Amino acid sequence: MAITEWKNQTIITEFILLGFETSPQFQTLLFLVFLSTYIITMAGNTLLVVLVVSDRHLHKPMYYFLGNLSCLEIFYSSTILLRMLASLITGEKRLSVNGCIAQFYLIASLVTTECCLLSVMSYDRYIAICKPLNYTVLMQDGLCCQLASLSWLSGFLAIAIVIVLIMQITFCGPSEIDSYFCDFGPLLNLSCSDIILLKIVAFICSFTFSLIPFLLTLISYVYIVTTVLKIPSTAGKQKAFSTCSSHLIVVTLYYGTLIVVYMIPDTPSLNYTNKIFSLFYTVLTPLINPLIYSFRNKEVKESTQRLFRKCSSLVGTRKSETNHVFIIKRKNRHVLN
Ligand SMILES: *[C@@H]1O[C@H](CO)[C@@H](O)[C@H](O)[C@H]1NC(C)=O
Repeated sequence: MAITEWKNQTIITEFILLGFETSPQFQTLLFLVFLSTYIITMAGNTLLVVLVVSDRHLHKPMYYFLGNLSCLEIFYSSTILLRMLASLITGEKRLSVNGCIAQFYLIASLVTTECCLLSVMSYDRYIAICKPLNYTVLMQDGLCCQLASLSWLSGFLAIAIVIVLIMQITFCGPSEIDSYFCDFGPLLNLSCSDIILLKIVAFICSFTFSLIPFLLTLISYVYIVTTVLKIPSTAGKQKAFSTCSSHLIVVTLYYGTLIVVYMIPDTPSLNYTNKIFSLFYTVLTPLINPLIYSFRNKEVKESTQRLFRKCSSLVGTRKSETNHVFIIKRKNRHVLN
């Protein structure tokens, strides 16, 4: 009996990512919306990385971490949106099992890294506001580098353990994943192996590398808020708080949407709601982060202006150079004539 059952099961080597199933016209509209989202996301985050790397005024821990965050968002939205755009324009929904696992690996590692980076950034703000006199001693370049690399390493290593276990699974179908990217839950639903160990390991990893950073972030902000409230003058309060308000907005948005998505029960009737909400943290956060930082932060704004001034002056000199060449040519012609 067991043997015949085994024979009846076909092993799947390809998944079908259903994505957003709509009419063809709407499909085109979706493509355009996501394409513009992708372009703006890439432009904003690339600008931030360029500013942080090239502008000496931004060579401070807070901006190093911000640059790392923007780098991360570039990878993240490329992993999700490029595949989605390709599928929207070609109509190709199939994806090999290994491709799907690879996509999940990238997405999960980047989410984990983002949690760690956000907590490192809140620790940096905690030192800046609660221990301002020791800031330069505590936040040296070496420590910064270690914290940033630790975030990246822990994200990619922790999820690698989960991936090793996922690779052992056989998938028997059905082969349809009702999502627009390869996520953990839908992937497990299609397996026909014993996944208890995998579930335990995944729980431990997500607990360690997202809940603990979340709690650390929360604790940092509790300290920051109590310190800010103790400042007697309103102007002083505002000044202290303005240095961390952008980060607080980003953190709230990020964890807020993550929590909402995981609170929505995993029932088929709510699948559509879930899809829409997961758009928030997969597509919208990478888009919004650079906007929040560049509109709210004076130093980033000034740095952007400097960059554009530099660019326009470069263009200006090139123009005058061409004029110069033109004049010389005319003079030469004059001589030749
Ligand atoms: C990431 O952080 C490290 C360490 O602080 C820093 O040296 C590096 O420049 C950052 N990367 C970007 C793109 O900002």
